[in-house]
Amino acid sequence: MEQSKELYEQRVRSLAPAEEPERQYYFIDVMRSVIAEKEARKGRKLTMHVETFGCQMNAKDSETLSGILSSIGFEESDSEDADLVLYNTCTVRENANTKLYGRIGYLGNRKKRNPDKRILLCGCMMQEPQAVEKIRKSYRFVDVIFGTHNIYKLAELLFDREVAGELVIDVWDKPAGIVEDLPRRNKYGFKAGINIMYGCNNFCSYCIVPYVRGRERSRNPEDIVAEARHLAENGVREVMLLGQNVNSYGKTDRMDVSFAKLLRMVSEVEGIRRIRFMTPHPKDLSDELIAEIAANPKVCRHVHLPLQSGSSRILKAMNRHYTKEQYLDLASRIRERIPGVAITTDIIVGFPGETEEDFRETMDVVRKAGFIAAYTFLYSKRTGTPAASMPDQVDEATAGERFKRLLAVVGEVGAAQAEAMNGQTVEVLCEEYKASEGTMTGRLDNNLLVHFPADESLLGELVSVKLTTCKGFYYLGERA
Ligand code: SAH
Ligand code: SF4
Ligand code: F3S
Repeated sequence: MEQSKELYEQRVRSLAPAEEPERQYYFIDVMRSVIAEKEARKGRKLTMHVETFGCQMNAKDSETLSGILSSIGFEESDSEDADLVLYNTCTVRENANTKLYGRIGYLGNRKKRNPDKRILLCGCMMQEPQAVEKIRKSYRFVDVIFGTHNIYKLAELLFDREVAGELVIDVWDKPAGIVEDLPRRNKYGFKAGINIMYGCNNFCSYCIVPYVRGRERSRNPEDIVAEARHLAENGVREVMLLGQNVNSYGKTDRMDVSFAKLLRMVSEVEGIRRIRFMTPHPKDLSDELIAEIAANPKVCRHVHLPLQSGSSRILKAMNRHYTKEQYLDLASRIRERIPGVAITTDIIVGFPGETEEDFRETMDVVRKAGFIAAYTFLYSKRTGTPAASMPDQVDEATAGERFKRLLAVVGEVGAAQAEAMNGQTVEVLCEEYKASEGTMTGRLDNNLLVHFPADESLLGELVSVKLTTCKGFYYLGERA
């Protein structure tokens, strides 16, 4: 028996193509027959549950991971009792990690009842050797650990696990080229993310992303446009172009297509009605880009422009390469040239050395820039980043108190911005239907949400809605 298993493994491996993605399609086929055998034994379909933590990049990766798993034959399930559970992890802040260990422990208990259960971990946290070491020591029941650079290998890794019979770890510290044309499973039929670049070269001093996602790489414009076209042909109306710093699209790879030009190219795809993007960096947001957003009706009038801090001194320590004044100047240029634009932001409170004075500068920018929404974070120390060893770490109580004050101002400023649209009739994309209330949630071009009575058939359509009641961060409305 053992020998035949070995022969089977040898034979499967010797026939595997060397090229990608052909090699992965081959392992998808191999795994499909392994899973079909298990199905026959159990007399039912096997289920999968993919849980995504963190940002849009991870969400996007999870679509590929789900696509591979469903090609193998797994059926999607909401439950962590599924036969295969995959956590696509994030490590941008410490508390995410702590919670994850708890959840892995819980999965371990579930596995006792279903020894065939497979537990897989991937994503940013798995790029950290300490995290992998801890799981290897204390959570032996985990089946596969892989990182951010080899998500395309999922089918092959599942095969490796089946033949090894124990935990398989495959984490790369560097990417090895971009693998195109993998299966993917869109979460929504009408909107989708498109990666335009991977990694980050900015090394903001607090941030772990460049360490876990590697150096900046851009995809070819032709591949991006082809993906947009394929999505549009399949009913997608809105695409979001994704990258940690979209302004530097093409720069490191010496392409002669700027990000603004890329926006234009994607907007020429028939069937695409709306284009969003995440995230531009304030240090190099070009006038060319502002002009493109202003002139191109398909590009949404929403700019997410992470501030991080309003204090020029702290911004320097954060390695952000702009000052308070430069940021405010940029925000006002955006407002002037793109009428009706909404600006949102990210802010970190309690960065090492932040004084009351620095914090007030942040509050000042929030008021002056007029953010319609801000994602606020307590500074979290990430081992290995320069900020982790900076002096004057701010104590928890002080940071907590500032955080509360910031939230109050952010709420007040955001509500005033949102309120200004009261009574307007706007076009919205119908994104979510709530059957119990008979209401649809639509997204405005500026990213605000509105709930209005409608029926389910409108899902994925663009319709006109009158904004009747402002509820602070969202609207109630009616079809116009
Ligand atoms: N590339 C994007 C953001 C990626 S991370 C950009 O440059 O804006 C998303 C947000 O998490 C960041 O904008 C920042 O506000 C927050 N963040 C990153 N590292 C953090 C840390 N160590 N502590 C607290 N918040 C952090
Ligand atoms: Fe992190 Fe800065 Fe890169 Fe954003 S730009 S991912 S905050 S290092
Ligand atoms: Fe988190 Fe990785 Fe995104 S650390 S924020 S999932 S790039």
